[in-house]
Amino acid sequence: MGAAGVSSEAIDKRQIAASFSRAAGTYDQVAELQRSVGNNLLARLPEPPFQSQLADIGCGTGFFTRALAERFGRPVLGLDIAEGMLRYARDRSPNSLDWVAADAENLPLRSASQDLLFSSLALQWCPQLPQALAEAFRVLRPGGCMAFNTLVEGTLGELRDAWLAVDGFVHVNRFMPLTQLQLLLAQAGFARWHCEVESHVLHYGQLSELTHELKALGAHNLNAGRPSGLTGRARLRGLTAAYEVQRQAAGLPATYQVAQVLLFKGLDQV
Ligand SMILES: C[S@@+](CC[C@H](N)C(=O)[O-])C[C@H]1O[C@@H](n2cnc3c(N)ncnc32)[C@H](O)[C@@H]1O
Repeated sequence: MGAAGVSSEAIDKRQIAASFSRAAGTYDQVAELQRSVGNNLLARLPEPPFQSQLADIGCGTGFFTRALAERFGRPVLGLDIAEGMLRYARDRSPNSLDWVAADAENLPLRSASQDLLFSSLALQWCPQLPQALAEAFRVLRPGGCMAFNTLVEGTLGELRDAWLAVDGFVHVNRFMPLTQLQLLLAQAGFARWHCEVESHVLHYGQLSELTHELKALGAHNLNAGRPSGLTGRARLRGLTAAYEVQRQAAGLPATYQVAQVLLFKGLDQV
């Protein structure tokens, strides 16, 4: 895999959709970091024009779709690749919101139809981020804005290092280096862009708390390089020991490196 998101070829999007659909019922209970990262993105949003079209790409359970609708007093379209997430979101949201199954790399939206695109912690799952950015550019009206955040290299580095010490396998999704993300942003054709990285370090009493949380989020490892079969007890003991070496006073650390990005389509860009 290269650095284009989680993996370029190897990850089957159906697997990603199935994993998130399965996690729909548990996601909100464990999505504390996802909430604060998404709220930080919300705080960066420009005011869209009056009567604008808004969409939330990779909306998951719809938390930020509803937040956007409330903040701007407008209906917002929620798009996600996982039907289970969309069902969950629809059941918990006002009827004024619409939900559509869609891939961020192939949006079912007309060109130049949207004023503001929001996407929180979804695009790291796209094997071809340039394609997702090209789609965002296409569907935005001139003067429109895409606001998204994504995970970059260094995320879950402690878990990755611990697994490497155990068996040398890829057990943690790979995230692109910041410099590569910046290059893709510069090449995406937008008139202006801005990218800032936030570091979040969470702490866990036990390794199992972290791994259960990743599963409940639907965000556990889907890389093709992962070894098949169950995690043997001996390997789990090895993993626990390797992670324990990194323990801090507050507990076992898990770092998330979050890039918060704004992309602006120029008024003269079609
Ligand atoms: C970590 S969740 C974030 C959900 C929501 N944005 C939030 O902040 O709570 C990632 C979401 O992205 C969706 N997703 C993954 N790949 C996608 C793709 N190619 N197109 C659209 N959605 C995708 C997943 O199904 C999942 O619902």
